[in-house]
Amino acid sequence: MIQDTFGRVHDYLRISLTDNCNLRCFYCMPEEKYAFAPAAKLMQVHEIETLAKLFVAQGVKKIRLTGGEPLVRKDAPKIIEALGKLDVELAITTNGIRLNEMLPELLAANIRAINISLDTLQPDKFLKITRRDLYHRVRSNIELLLHHGIRVKINVVVMKDLNDNEILDFIALTKHNNIEIRFIEFMPFAGNKWSSNQVFTLHEILSEIATKYDALPITPEANDTSKRYMIPGHVGSFAVISTMSAPFCDSCNRMRLTADGKLKNCLFSKSETDLLSALRNGEDVLPLIHESIQSKAKALGGQFSGVFKNIDTSTLENRSMITIGG
Ligand code: GTP
Ligand code: 5AD
Ligand code: SF4
Repeated sequence: MIQDTFGRVHDYLRISLTDNCNLRCFYCMPEEKYAFAPAAKLMQVHEIETLAKLFVAQGVKKIRLTGGEPLVRKDAPKIIEALGKLDVELAITTNGIRLNEMLPELLAANIRAINISLDTLQPDKFLKITRRDLYHRVRSNIELLLHHGIRVKINVVVMKDLNDNEILDFIALTKHNNIEIRFIEFMPFAGNKWSSNQVFTLHEILSEIATKYDALPITPEANDTSKRYMIPGHVGSFAVISTMSAPFCDSCNRMRLTADGKLKNCLFSKSETDLLSALRNGEDVLPLIHESIQSKAKALGGQFSGVFKNIDTSTLENRSMITIGG
């Protein structure tokens, strides 16, 4: 069992497969020219498998593949196949662009729930945010997943004056589609030009929805990142991930492995533990995992408090989101 000093059991591992992506979302990548990690620095398929097995033997019950965009990695099917054989729930967060190509592999690995990032329902705004004209592909791939009975969550990072005016349009999607829309408060990472006045908070999101609908809270699942709601008469539901205005660190069970094999004990942790180098040097990786989790801060990587308006981003030490994977 992997436990931290606050008694939190860590049984959920997020593995980033690559820091590369087929979109260019401005809030995820640093603005200056970004050099993707060279292939030799990335964990290879057998290394991912070895590390994943170690974590599963320590009680990990869920592994989520992330990126960048996990499905741009050429050997993603092999990784999915290898991890699909482990005794663990396998999940993935993707931008949805390559789902039509990869669906057979995902189904074969028993992936039954997929989280898709989609911040707008307007093709021209999609192009503005992602710098790629692929809105219709993502929409048709969401249809494809629903057709195959896969549970779909759509992640919407809400930013003031960008897409906060689309909240009700996203809610309308849940009327006839069995989708969970998750509105996410915009979070600060290296190079993403975050400022507190761009954050559209849990409170603001709920107020906007209340102008048209009577939403009812749903009992949360253990360790959930989101506060969940249903609307009577809608087959789908919605949720809010309120890291900035109402953090949920008390029930945190997450660890992150970056594509270059570094363990992060929190989304916002400064320190990283180089598991890949240790593995390549033939060292014992297990004590390193436990030491990392033992040094985990109580909340938000110890970098800021719940009073998000006072964050000085110039003092934040973290990677850019594209290299963490959410
Ligand atoms: P489920 O396993 O389906 O609950 O998904 P998830 O919310 O764990 O993962 P997903 O990759 O869909 O991430 C959605 C949003 O939640 C992203 O903005 C992530 O950065 C954020 N997120 C995921 N895990 C954590 C976490 O442990 N802490 C915080 N603060 N945010 C997280
Ligand atoms: N704040 C909140 N969520 C973010 N994501 C990427 N960058 C940010 C940010 N700055 C989301 C993506 C994806 C998930 C893995 O993280 O939209 O759905
Ligand atoms: Fe866990 Fe860090 Fe996320 Fe809080 S911010 S829930 S401690 S990963």
